[in-house]
Amino acid sequence: MSKQKKNWEQRLSGTPDKLTVAFVESLSLDKRLYKYDIAGSAAHAEMLVEQNLISKSELKEIKKGLSEIRDEMSSGKFKFDKELEDIHMVIEDALIKKIGEPGKKLHTGRSRNDQVSTDIRLWMRDEIELLVKKLTSLEKSLVELAGKHAGDVMPGFTHLQHAQPVVVGSYLLSFVERFERDIVRLNNCSRPVNVSPLGSGALAGSTLRLDRKSTAEKLGFKDISRNSIDAVSDRDFCAEFIFDCALIATHLSQLAEDWIIYSSEEFGFLRLDDSFCTSSSMMPQKRNPDLLELIRSRTGRVYGSLMGILTVLKAQPTGYNRDLQEDKFHIFTASDMIDSSIEAAAAIVSGTTFNTEKLAANLDKGFLDATALAEYLVNKGVPFRQAHGIVGSIVNFCEEQNKGLSELSLDEFKAYSEAVETDVYENLGSEKVARNYITEGAAGQQQTEQRVSYWREQLSER
Ligand code: ARG
Repeated sequence: MSKQKKNWEQRLSGTPDKLTVAFVESLSLDKRLYKYDIAGSAAHAEMLVEQNLISKSELKEIKKGLSEIRDEMSSGKFKFDKELEDIHMVIEDALIKKIGEPGKKLHTGRSRNDQVSTDIRLWMRDEIELLVKKLTSLEKSLVELAGKHAGDVMPGFTHLQHAQPVVVGSYLLSFVERFERDIVRLNNCSRPVNVSPLGSGALAGSTLRLDRKSTAEKLGFKDISRNSIDAVSDRDFCAEFIFDCALIATHLSQLAEDWIIYSSEEFGFLRLDDSFCTSSSMMPQKRNPDLLELIRSRTGRVYGSLMGILTVLKAQPTGYNRDLQEDKFHIFTASDMIDSSIEAAAAIVSGTTFNTEKLAANLDKGFLDATALAEYLVNKGVPFRQAHGIVGSIVNFCEEQNKGLSELSLDEFKAYSEAVETDVYENLGSEKVARNYITEGAAGQQQTEQRVSYWREQLSER
């Protein structure tokens, strides 16, 4: 049985090979854009009426047909046919089957090239909003946990070695800062996204009187693109979006890495809720942080998409090329990964408890108060470089004696520096040091309490 030729393939002799059909189709990916494609088509059709390019009654039929197709697609009744290549052709074909002649006028003054770019932009606008919402709930969970632990001290690390004491809350808020920058970046990315390419056609615009501003306005775009050749091939906004996702993935992975370590037997700083752990098929005692491990490793998929989109873009001769179809694979991979990982992270954070006893037990190790002792000497007039040397020697002595700094007698201190007086003991021990931080933004209790209130207020307004 010979297949019927599609009406946009009259130029070709015969019908495409099965392999061609399977190889070039993007329907399996872009069908999730159906709502946006339909919204774009409805706006385009309304503009065609305004310009007397179609009649009012034709518009009515087009809109009715489109809304039926949308309902069939959202209810899952619609039968998608990959032979039609992509969501744009699928919808147009269904419309023509439904309403006949008026359906054939919908593509007036439009190409799939400006259509697909419109669809992606509409999708991305919504996706950014959704991701921002999810990041905000993750921030809220972190702020609540930080509020519970605003006064609990933990070792602060550099090089994963004990460095200086910090409060758990300030550690948690350090992630809120990261995710907040991610939100700002995503919102910045909406600006280049929010530009309408419709009316750019295949690449050169049109000889028809299309009102580009009108379609842009109907679709809620802030502006129209300025150059039709650029508009059909511009995917900079996709690269930017994926980069933003990649950095979110980085931050989630950093959190995951910390918590995998912190939940281990050796650290025991925190306990993940059982509902977010998995067990082992062999070792009955296991509580594994698999969700965190997968958040960490799926970062790779997002980075892959960033490389993917940049690679697609770097070799584009000016104008539209089919390579650009791959954009969807990368933006969807990146955003799906981020979306589920943010959600998992928020749930994990809400179910986590910090083990304050275990944290306190760790504070005596590693001379977390050594820097505070050097700063104490500075306050007594000792130049910092000298104070640094003195404390280094005191630490060596303590190690030999198997003592902490606060366990030394005044005489032992004085053997290293005459500047030490009895008030030194107010500056030793992690708990005291964390209370003594006075710089703005420091990792101490007062700064953290203030910051928790600040974030609570900020986030409650969103
Ligand atoms: N499916 C294509 C894409 O996603 C739509 C544009 C096709 N345009 C073309 N001239 N072949 O980019």
